Amino acid sequence: MEASVGSAKLKLLQGDITEQGTDAIVNAANSSLMGGGGVDGAIHRKGGAQILEECRLIRRSLPDGLPTGDAVATTGGRLRAKKVIHTVGPVWSGGNNGEPEMLERAYRNCLALALKMGIKTISFPSISTGAYEYPVEKASRVALRAVVDFLGENTGIEEVRFVLHSKHDLWIYEETLEGEKLRY
Ligand code: APR
Repeated sequence: MEASVGSAKLKLLQGDITEQGTDAIVNAANSSLMGGGGVDGAIHRKGGAQILEECRLIRRSLPDGLPTGDAVATTGGRLRAKKVIHTVGPVWSGGNNGEPEMLERAYRNCLALALKMGIKTISFPSISTGAYEYPVEKASRVALRAVVDFLGENTGIEEVRFVLHSKHDLWIYEETLEGEKLRY
């Protein structure tokens, strides 16, 4: 599914984020930045050791780890994408502990960092909806609204992709994009 938001294109597709040829892809990392499973594992596995090396360098200035909702960038290593933007989504704990606000911050901070770096095209996974157990329906509303609002407020990003791993998740994001009558 595709939508235009201002001069930017918003695309929803099913696939593997590590295969995307956008300038940057977003990693659903943990605060250690030392890798993990899911998207994190796939990106480090396919991108190679250079990504981890740059994460280690970043950690020198972040002794307590990357805070939830913040974003940092490394090389894309062996990936098609030139850059990986690492962010940490919130762990779901019922929805009344600031999870929506932290999830929104993660998406917005990735886009703000991309803009600052002159990145024009960027791919997102469905942040927090795997190991962090954020319900996909709820997460999709926060994610799409955050991205649509950001693209409506800023120029410079040409394409944002949501790369969903399953047909089910793609269907949920498509339903949300249609249903939410998001201003775009
Ligand atoms: N491409 C696109 N989406 C993927 C891929 C992939 N290659 N692999 C997994 N996904 C999907 C999952 O199906 C889920 O919908 O990404 C979404 C996010 O799942 P996770 O990767 O588990 O991320 P998250 O829920 O944010 O949990 C982060 O998991 O991997 C660890 O180190 C990571 O501790 C951190 C935690």
